Amino acid sequence: MRPKLWNRLFGKPDGPPVQEIIRHFNEAAADEEHFPSTIDPRIYHVRLILEYFGELNGKRILDVGSGKGRFARVLLERHARARVIAFDLAEAMLRHVPAGIGTCAGSMTALPFRGGAFDCAYATESLEHAVDIETAVAEMCRVVKPGGRIVIIDKNAGHWGRLKTPEWEKWFDRKELETLLGKYCTQVESRPISYWEDVAPDGLFLAWLAQK
Ligand SMILES: C[S@@+](CC[C@H](N)C(=O)[O-])C[C@H]1O[C@@H](n2cnc3c(N)ncnc32)[C@H](O)[C@@H]1O
Repeated sequence: MRPKLWNRLFGKPDGPPVQEIIRHFNEAAADEEHFPSTIDPRIYHVRLILEYFGELNGKRILDVGSGKGRFARVLLERHARARVIAFDLAEAMLRHVPAGIGTCAGSMTALPFRGGAFDCAYATESLEHAVDIETAVAEMCRVVKPGGRIVIIDKNAGHWGRLKTPEWEKWFDRKELETLLGKYCTQVESRPISYWEDVAPDGLFLAWLAQK
């Protein structure tokens, strides 16, 4: 799609050019160290999603801003009859998604799926890049069916500055995303998490859990 059309459809008028973000992540896909294809399934970020979603066989799950599908890979390993879709802005990321997981390229601010198409959706360290956060959260909630579950794992605004970030990145405070999710979901909670369940969270990562 032509850059100007992309921006008109998926950008925010006062935000950075979407093409710049796409280029950034298409290039980043070559960096396996910082954008890995796999994740240790013992990491609490993965376990929390698996625990909160429960049985997934026969269900449809959307990984929003999937990158190379490292979380989707574990979901499918654990629930072989789940239908998992990896959705990402960067086609170069999606080329690493393993067989058996569907792929779809586009912006999470305009998900190309009908309302209620998924039983569950999650976004790990991707909402922070969406620029138009309100629209991205609304879209995630739209494509999940009533009673379906949503997990967002992202970074804590209170710890801004701890890592080098591109200019469009945004971190969140608990109340902010709870309020956005609460517009569409009946139950919303959030909590600090760490990589390992037996290590106290240092405050960098937050998880939001919501049921529509
Ligand atoms: C830090 S990576 C995280 C990838 C994956 N969720 C993970 O945890 O491995 C951020 C991902 O979000 C994707 N992304 C950024 N903006 C996006 C948007 N507007 N819509 C969909 N994906 C987006 C990027 O292409 C990138 O793959």
